[in-house]
Parts: sequence; C-alpha cells; structure tokens
Amino acid sequence: MEDQAEKLREIMRRKKEGAASSRPASAAKTNVKAADKPRIITVTSGKGGVGKTNLSVNMALAFARIGKKVIVMDADLGLANVNVMLNMIPKYNLYHVIKKQKTVREILVETEYGISIVAGASGFSQIANLGEEDRKDFIRELDTLSNADIIIIDTSAGVSSNVLDFIAAADDAVIITTPEPTAITDAYGIIKIIATEYDSLNMGLKLVVNRAKGAAEAKSVADRMINISGQFLNLKVDYLGFIYDDISVPHAVLRQKPFMVVDPKCKASICVQHIVERMDRNKTGESHGFGAMLRRFFGRSTETV
Ligand SMILES: Nc1ncnc2c1ncn2[C@@H]1O[C@H](COP(=O)(O)OP(=O)(O)O)[C@@H](O)[C@H]1O
Ligand SMILES: [Mg+2]
Repeated sequence: MEDQAEKLREIMRRKKEGAASSRPASAAKTNVKAADKPRIITVTSGKGGVGKTNLSVNMALAFARIGKKVIVMDADLGLANVNVMLNMIPKYNLYHVIKKQKTVREILVETEYGISIVAGASGFSQIANLGEEDRKDFIRELDTLSNADIIIIDTSAGVSSNVLDFIAAADDAVIITTPEPTAITDAYGIIKIIATEYDSLNMGLKLVVNRAKGAAEAKSVADRMINISGQFLNLKVDYLGFIYDDISVPHAVLRQKPFMVVDPKCKASICVQHIVERMDRNKTGESHGFGAMLRRFFGRSTETV
C-alpha cells in the first residue's frame, strides 16, 4: 500500500513538472474555442460501491434539465456500468477507442434522457491500467467532445494512474463517500494523494456525502474530512452537499433507469438537484478544459520522452 502511494506520488510529481514546462505546439490549437470549453467534472471515491455512477448519471440529468449539453463518460475501466444503469448496450465502447478501432466521437451515444454517454469497457482488466502512451492517445481523443457544456467522468474507485490523470485534467474533482468509516478512510486516502500535488492541479476539490440519514450526519462527516484535510494536508475541500440514503435509488437501479427519472421528487433526486444548483453557481474560477488537459499530458510527455 505504501509502495503504491509512493509510486502515485511520483506520477503526480512528474505531472506537475510537466504542467510547468512549456506548452507544446500540438496543444495550442485546442485553445481556439476558449470561450466555450466544456467543464470537466470527475466523480471519484476511495472505496467502490459508494454511489459514483448514480451520482454521475443523475447529476448529468439535473444539468441537462437546466439546459446544459452533458456527456457522461464511463471511465471506470474495470467495472464500467453507466450503460447498465441506463439499460443500454452500445455496440462500441472505450475498449474500441483504446484499441484504436473507433474514435470517442464515433462511440458517443444519445440516451432517451437528453444526455449522451461514452460507454466504458467493462471486464477488460488488461486495460484497467493503461500504459502512458495509450493514456495520452486516449485523452487526445477526448478533445473531440469539445462541443459539450459539461463532461462528467465516472472514474474507478481508488487510486490508479488512470484516475489521477483524469482528476488532473478536471475543472472539478468530486469525491464521494458514505458515512461508513471504511469509505471515509479511503476517501481521505485519495484526497491525501491528490493534495500532495494540489497546487499544480488548480481545481476545486468537492465532497459529497452519499447515503446519509440526514443533513446533520452528512455535515458531521463532511466537517471531519474538511477539518482533517485543512489541518494535516493544508488543503481546502468544499462541501458540495449530501444525498439521503433512499430506497428509491436501488429501486431505480433495478429498473435500469436514473432515479431522477423514476422518481424526480424523491429525497435523493432533490438532493442531486441541490448539488447541481450549487455547482452551477460556483463555477470554478476559469474553465481549464481541454487546453489544460492536453497541456498537462503533453507537458508531462515532453518531460518523460
Ligand atoms: N443514496 C443512496 N441510497 C440508497 N442506496 C444507494 C444510494 N446510492 C447508492 N446506493 C446503492 O449503492 C449501489 C452502488 O451504487 P453505484 O452508484 O453503482 O456505486 P459506484 O459507482 O461507486 O460503485 C447502488 O446500486 C445502490 O443500490
Ligand atoms: Mg460505478
């Protein structure tokens, strides 16, 4: 565990150095559309099964309802399930992109809910940890999605170089936890690794407490994490909100529909709406979008080649 954390810190350190290096010409052209770059939001957790996919999909719907063009990208390369949650079996998924058989644009599919998805590549453990070159190609592919307002990236749980690359490229990194001690500990673990290099990442770290009994329980979990992060990591984490533990969620999952669709008035739906309203109000200072994303990648690669 120590070893893994050390390796990841090294990756982040190299990324930081790369981001600081001069921007290569290939990244410059992506800044042409500076005014309407998509806002990239990652949804990450320390532990699996805490609600990343439910939050990603339902947050996308809430954004769509306020008029945003949203894409959900299923970047959980080990346990992809955005498409399962929406009862869709897209013919192509990220596997085909990674194998260079398709482009991201070609595999983008519209859903009946007014959002689009990029389906993940479930069960391909050999690609769950892509090599450096493949990751770079993959991120370059994402540039073609630049006509969206918001791209929500549902990542795998835990720390891997894939996840950290996505977080590094994001405008907002949402960390989700439940009140369970194990989930909190693991969420703190991932925050700690991000924090080590936070200065260079220049994005908002936001916390969502899922499956809470109520506002008070969620607030106390959030306060604890925010205090520890501030005290020991000198890192500011914003509390974005909570989602009730709500039976409507598993019911909707069973029906393979988003809970925002099955029961738009349920407690969980109202909570997600609040979270999205808050996110929409607090846009991160400036959208870094693909320009920054590519800069980090190419910056890093110029340093490593
Ligand atoms: N707010 C909630 N209330 C009740 N159950 C929930 C809630 N959020 C998630 N769950 C349960 O947890 C399961 C895992 O959620 P999911 O979004 O797939 O997690 P992850 O993507 O982090 O693995 C869901 O299928 C659902 O049964
Ligand atoms: Mg998931």
